[in-house]
Amino acid sequence: MTPSVTTHASPLLLSLLLLVSIPTVFLLVPRLIPPKTLPAIPDADESDDLALFRRAILSSSTSAAKPATSSFFHRRPTPKVAFLFLTNSDIVFSPLWEKYFHGHRQLFNIYVHADPSSILDLPLTPTFRGRFVPAKATQRASPTLISAARRLLATALLDDPSNQFFALLSQSCIPLHPFPTMYNALLSDNAGPHGRHRSFIEIKDKDWVLHDRYYARGDEVMLPEVPYDRFRSGSQFFVLTRRHAILVVRDMRLWKKFKLPCLIERKDSCYPEEHYFPTLLDMQDPDGCTKYSLTRVNWTDQVEGHPHTYRPGEVSARLIRELRKSNATFSYMFARKFAPECLEPLMQIADSVILRD
Ligand SMILES: *[C@@H]1O[C@H](CO)[C@@H](O)[C@H](O)[C@H]1NC(C)=O
Ligand SMILES: *[C@@H]1O[C@H](CO)[C@@H](O)[C@H](O)[C@H]1NC(C)=O
Repeated sequence: MTPSVTTHASPLLLSLLLLVSIPTVFLLVPRLIPPKTLPAIPDADESDDLALFRRAILSSSTSAAKPATSSFFHRRPTPKVAFLFLTNSDIVFSPLWEKYFHGHRQLFNIYVHADPSSILDLPLTPTFRGRFVPAKATQRASPTLISAARRLLATALLDDPSNQFFALLSQSCIPLHPFPTMYNALLSDNAGPHGRHRSFIEIKDKDWVLHDRYYARGDEVMLPEVPYDRFRSGSQFFVLTRRHAILVVRDMRLWKKFKLPCLIERKDSCYPEEHYFPTLLDMQDPDGCTKYSLTRVNWTDQVEGHPHTYRPGEVSARLIRELRKSNATFSYMFARKFAPECLEPLMQIADSVILRD
């Protein structure tokens, strides 16, 4: 009797042990194998964003319906440009922006997304006070920069139905023309389908970086939503129409792919923010986009993905005039990147050059 019990008990005990150990293996293995990807976006940030985006979409669909019923009595509100500043430091050129915005209070709104870890030392100038939106951590080489831009778009959509254009800028951007020149350029372009305004966003389908950037998250991961031949590149510094801002905030299909963290071994090709917006808009409304940016950048002698950063000694009337030049219909309205120390020489030529055509 006794031996038979032991022979029966051992396999049972073994299976039990095995059962108990399986979850343990699953818990331990990820800690033993080093991670293959860069950090993913925290789930809490994602769910906060989703709630914000839903509110923005809902309010935009109701506010879009309103003018139709009451347009007989009410004139359409004057379109405004929402300036979306994405920053992780002081907005050091705010004195220049103050001059730029002066006298145009009815035509713009400002929204600032400052990484929560940014150290802001300078006192805020009047138009930037109270304009900071709830922000979350952002890092280079991560989709957090896309999230921050979408958060800005959603906040601006919700805040004011008159926001009809959404210009994304950073703390190292400067204006190249007076405000009215920029405003008239945005509003005078109506070469989109049905005579609509277009978004000014760079969209490139031939770019030597496309291959490595497409595979940065893994070999097959972008399929089926984003086939390689639909993948595009372009600067994140865009001006979107309201229609496109809603389209971007509404998107879940492409975001599901672009939010995936890059493989560590391919981190040098991880610039998802330079692909998400052009790919999405080129898929959804290619004719509604100019395919060029209004923000000039100098990629000569780039260092580790950073464009040329202008130093104070380079700032001159000649440089501003040179940077405005474009082969497109409109000349460049903004430029980057300028070192913080450029504020003083820029202020010296603000009235005589930058804010004069
Ligand atoms: C672009 O940057 C290079 C240095 O990297 C400089 O020599 C050149 O003058 C710049 N071009 C313009 C238009 O500012
Ligand atoms: C305009 O086009 C010419 C010829 O293709 C090119 O050399 C030049 O760099 C372009 N200028 C700008 C500002 O893109």
